[in-house]
Amino acid sequence: MKRFFRTKSRDHLLADLSSGATLHRVLGPWHLTFLGIGCVIGAGIFVLTGHAAAQWAGPAIALSFVFSGVACTLAGLCYAEFASMIPVAGSAYTYAYATLGELFAWIIGWDLILEYLFGASAVAVGWSGYVVSFLKDFGVTLPTALASAPLTYDVATGLHLTGGYVNLPAVFIVALMTALLVVGIRASANFNNLIVLVKVAVILLFIGCCAAFIRRANWTPFIPPHDPVTGAFGWSGILSGSAVVFFAYIGFDAVSTAAQETRNPQRDMPIGILASLAICAVLYVAVALVLTGIVSYQKLNVPDPIAVGINAAGESVRWLRPWVKLGAIAGLSSVIMVLLMGQPRIFFSMSRDGLLPPVFSRVHPVFRTPHITTLLTGGTAMVISGLFPIGFLGELVSIGALLAFAMVCAGVLVLRHTRPDYPRPFRTPWVPVVPVLGCALALIQMAFLPAGTWIRLVVWMILGLLVYLFYGHTHSHLHSQPPR
Ligand code: ALA
Repeated sequence: MKRFFRTKSRDHLLADLSSGATLHRVLGPWHLTFLGIGCVIGAGIFVLTGHAAAQWAGPAIALSFVFSGVACTLAGLCYAEFASMIPVAGSAYTYAYATLGELFAWIIGWDLILEYLFGASAVAVGWSGYVVSFLKDFGVTLPTALASAPLTYDVATGLHLTGGYVNLPAVFIVALMTALLVVGIRASANFNNLIVLVKVAVILLFIGCCAAFIRRANWTPFIPPHDPVTGAFGWSGILSGSAVVFFAYIGFDAVSTAAQETRNPQRDMPIGILASLAICAVLYVAVALVLTGIVSYQKLNVPDPIAVGINAAGESVRWLRPWVKLGAIAGLSSVIMVLLMGQPRIFFSMSRDGLLPPVFSRVHPVFRTPHITTLLTGGTAMVISGLFPIGFLGELVSIGALLAFAMVCAGVLVLRHTRPDYPRPFRTPWVPVVPVLGCALALIQMAFLPAGTWIRLVVWMILGLLVYLFYGHTHSHLHSQPPR
């Protein structure tokens, strides 16, 4: 039993770090903030805002963004403590190994597959929606059967067939990004910075140009009456909406995976994590208010809600349409790339610890990239993005990431208790209030996700535990090493 809960000490983690190849420490606070925004702003704001407003919260989706933003900030403060204390790649998986023990580390590692692999698939579906809509504006109509998922998703009735065959544009973008990652073209810091500027500029343009067209009628009622059958709308709808749009904030935690490439991680990690969160939260609330103010929320359950909003605002802002779509297409591509890049890193850490077979940490002799896990991740994401709708995937990704956040918050409390002696360059303020509240808010948001999403999480976790029992547990390197 003890073996399940054996932890890896900080010294052990830092020793692992110095024994491997070292990475260049080149990133500063600005790079990290841009890295965070690059991974955060994506399908969440460009696509899911519409879905969540139409199905869950109406115009009050802006409040969902506030609630979710607060929950993420609390979790972000806990991530910042860990990232400054244990500045190694591996993020929540590594933190759990250091605090809650191997079993929890496995659970988080397996759970992060939902966040990264399924996340990349979800964003690819969003990318496809904007590409189809962009091409249509130029008279190119892709056949619906080849540009839409064969399955659609409704909260009340579940998955249904659409008559479509496969979402080919989504498959295409995942294949392209996978190929680039295998040959080692990583999104360089400059490329990422450029995309971030484009994304933020497009969002600011949308807010600035469309705010004048807000009609109060669209905001009335701001909180539509609760529907007891589906659980939508009303205050509980706002909470369900916050769990769905939580997806939009995912990615700030990816900043922590760059800890080994940061010049001064102790100081810069907290800045990068918290600044990217704050900037995105402000932009999201503003977009949600403007979008639901210029068009009735009932019309927003579409693949390109921002474009629908611009149409509704009128002729004078039509010129924005192609720019917003181009911004979304470029912006979503970078999110897909970062998520597809993050997944092999986590597999790499798990394999190096013996919890996954050694092939998962093999590096290509010429390209120096984890080609096998990259291909495995990309291949699986191609299948998923080709078949499933974004709402279905987004909720699964949200529940996975919320679970990871809850465990990171709990981990801060545990480690303060078990290892008060570790140096903590950044300390989460107001412990235990912040971690307890952060954990509670993550759990509350999880509770408001549909029962079907919970069932899928449980099935996924059971599958993971079986892999752990039959492989990871018996192959773990920690058991063959003396304690440090
Ligand atoms: N936060 C990222 C997005 O919205 C995953 O696309």
